[in-house]
Amino acid sequence: MRIAVPAESDPTEPRVGATPDTIRKFIALGASVAVQSGAGTKAGIRDRDFEAAGATLEPDAAGTLLDADIVLKVRRPDGADLANIKRNAIVVGIMDPYGQDEALRIMAEAGVTGFSMELMPRITRAQVMDVLSSQANLAGYRSVIDAAEQYGRALPMMMTAAGTVPAARIFIMGVGVAGLQAIATARRLGAIVTATDVRPATKEQVESLGAKFVAVEDDEFKQAETSGGYAKEMSEGYKQKQAALVAAHIAKQDIVITTALIPGRPAPRLVTSAMVQSMRPGSVILDLAVERGGNCELSRPGEVVDHDGVKIVGYLNVPGRLAATASSLYARNLYAFVETLIDKTSKTVAVNWDDDLVKATCLTRDGAIVHPNFQPKAA
Ligand code: NAI
Repeated sequence: MRIAVPAESDPTEPRVGATPDTIRKFIALGASVAVQSGAGTKAGIRDRDFEAAGATLEPDAAGTLLDADIVLKVRRPDGADLANIKRNAIVVGIMDPYGQDEALRIMAEAGVTGFSMELMPRITRAQVMDVLSSQANLAGYRSVIDAAEQYGRALPMMMTAAGTVPAARIFIMGVGVAGLQAIATARRLGAIVTATDVRPATKEQVESLGAKFVAVEDDEFKQAETSGGYAKEMSEGYKQKQAALVAAHIAKQDIVITTALIPGRPAPRLVTSAMVQSMRPGSVILDLAVERGGNCELSRPGEVVDHDGVKIVGYLNVPGRLAATASSLYARNLYAFVETLIDKTSKTVAVNWDDDLVKATCLTRDGAIVHPNFQPKAA
């Protein structure tokens, strides 16, 4: 059983799908592991660290992927990767499958068995495999650090001989995994923190972290959570009431961090240009949803926009800005899942196709897109 860890071909992706720690564990399960030279460099892992863990180093992607039974990726494999991966090999990664019909078709036609880690059900058994949580948690932390770097003032209140510096006001919009970590981080840095979400369960979570909850709490709000624990698209009426409340609040904030997402849909637009305009110069908006269309009307993917003195930060791949930590958690998520695809006695790949986790995450198999959510539309 051969496992491959290629370098990510996307130059903006610094993470890697395995660490020396997870490679040791795969070897203990009877696998041999090939790592492409340089695969871990941007995540702070040297070739010799991989070698010391027992991996074989390969100079290029073709050599790494040759004859691999399991490929550990961060991002969806591209055409060049697929050309080197044998049919029926397992490829695991963050496949970003929504709206990617063509890419999924190409992956299916290459004959690989593709698993999309972000489709992992959020059940107790799969928590250790939950890449959305492990990466969103880090993104939430980093969003506050990045916003603080762009903010030309201090975050904590300081009483100095030269006078008192007021604490910064930070507003977190969207209190999922990223938002909760952003609240905790902003609190640790001494800011005055408020937060909003459309799911009522978040109110208590926000308050338990010492922040204040801000939202229109009407009947619709009380039922705004799906059985899966995610946000629903809200009615126009609710959106208008919430926008009015938020507009008045944002005008008084120094930093706004937006993290609001609805699975499989574009990110909700929460911060309008008029709201940006209402903030004082030097304020910062950091849009963690920028890759999914953005929560702020003025954010631009990969850019820091200066709008009349207000900075709107739209960094891409925020977990990648902490590549070493993000890789170590991601690699552990991958190990926890891939381990379940291996028969420990025969030391071979043995997928249980009836396993709920396999069914929920398998995108392509035997030349076809097999996941019910991504079936090609009839012509
Ligand atoms: P997400 O990344 O899909 O969305 C982020 C947040 O944005 C959510 O809290 C959502 O309610 C909020 N949001 C959406 N539309 C909004 C709007 N118009 N205004 C304000 N906020 C809006 O969410 P994430 O982080 O994936 O968490 C979703 C749920 O899954 C949470 O309940 C979380 O606790 C739960 N979860 C469960 C886990 C488990 O293993 N049981 C693991 C991780 C999360």
